[in-house]
This record gives sequence, C-alpha cells and structure tokens, in this order.
Amino acid sequence: MALTVAIDGPSGSGKSTVARAVAAARRLAYLDTGAMYRAAACWVLDSGAAFDDLDGVAALVRDMPLTVGLDPAGERFTLDGRDVTARIREPEVSRVVSRVATNLKARPLLVDWQRRLVAAEREPGGWSGGRGIVAEGRDITTVIAPDAEVRILLTASEEARLARRSLELSGSADASAVAATRDQVVRRDRDDSTVASFMEAADGVTLLDSSALTLEETIARVLALVPEV
Ligand code: DC
Repeated sequence: MALTVAIDGPSGSGKSTVARAVAAARRLAYLDTGAMYRAAACWVLDSGAAFDDLDGVAALVRDMPLTVGLDPAGERFTLDGRDVTARIREPEVSRVVSRVATNLKARPLLVDWQRRLVAAEREPGGWSGGRGIVAEGRDITTVIAPDAEVRILLTASEEARLARRSLELSGSADASAVAATRDQVVRRDRDDSTVASFMEAADGVTLLDSSALTLEETIARVLALVPEV
C-alpha cells in the first residue's frame, strides 16, 4: 500500500527538516514544494522578466526545465541542467519567492505539477518504487494532497519560529539576529497567507505544536502517526 504524508505549516515550524527525517525513516520520497517555488523564482530572475507580469511569469513557469529531487538523503534540483540546490536558498531568492507563490496564474501550474509528483510516487515507476511520499509545503494538506493518509499541520509560536530561522540563517538567535529574520518569517507568511491557508488545521488534519518540543521529539510525534509500509 502506498502512503502519502502531507505536512504544512508556517515558516520556521520545522516542516522541511521533519518531513525529510520522516521520509528517510520510512523510506519514502520527499517533496519540498517550497523549493519548486524557489526554483521558479530563480528562473524568473534569470530571464529578466518582471515579477508583476503575471502572464509572462506563468509562461516561464509552464516551460521551466526543472528537475525535482525526491531523495530525502539529499534532494538536488536542476534548472536547465545546472544544479541550483544551493542557489534557491540564497537571500536574493528568498526575497522574491513570494512574488511567484502569490501569482495566481503561475500557482495552479505548480499545484498541478506537485499533484503529479505525489501521484507518481504511488505507482511502481516512481522514485520510491510505489512506497509513497512525504510532501511538505503551505497548501499540501488542503490543495495538493487532501486525500493523503496522514495530514499534519506543524505549527510553533512566532517566537519559536523566529529564533529557529535566525539560528539557521545566521547561527545566532540574539536580539539583532532575530530582528533581521523577522522580515523573512513574518512578512513572507503574511504575503503567502493571501493565497494559501496554513495557520489553521482543516478538518481531518492533525495539529502539532512544536514550540516546546525538540526536533527529535517532533520527529517522533510525527512518526507515531505514520504507519510502516
Ligand atoms: O518553505 P519555503 O520557504 O521554501 O517556501 C518558499 C516560498 O514558497 C514561500 O514564499 C512559501 C511559498 N510556498 C507556497 O506558497 N506553497 C507551497 N506549497 C510551498 C511554498
């Protein structure tokens, strides 16, 4: 039996790290949908197109030569044959990625693509050999994989999320590092929440608040919800 595990939640909730660890533990594929939005932002940046040209951006996304890595031990993304795995995490990309994520002409294309990637992992020809996938991102439990066997909304207090992102980005969670991170976490979630709802658990979605949990504890709580396949 194939298994789809869908995890969404706001920035800094730990969903990527948790999803990757759960996929590795259960030998499932891992889909980071945010990375696809990031790759799309790179593609638009490189093309020189204006982000406000909604149709132009959508046309670029439609034909984007992106390969999506699904290996939780190190997913690689290539764009037109070039490895962009590191580049998609750079501040230049983080600053503009919401412009693609909130483009309602481009978003349905990525949604379709992500649905196909999830469906393919339920078939023998997929990366996981039909075992299934852990997919993570803002609208996974509601739009991409509402029929997933396991649906989780991972949250954490704003304070906890800011401190984690700040540690991840600058190696420090002191007051000035947290202030510098605030824009990335709070502004981006506010912008993104105009097109995807990820702060409240939909019906049938398990809410897991990780504010007071370590990463290991959070992974263990999620694994407890994911059957062995
Ligand atoms: O999780 P992340 O920071 O890598 O996400 C990158 C951007 O894409 C961020 O602005 C949220 C957005 N996103 C989205 O709108 N829907 C998803 N399924 C995943 C990410």
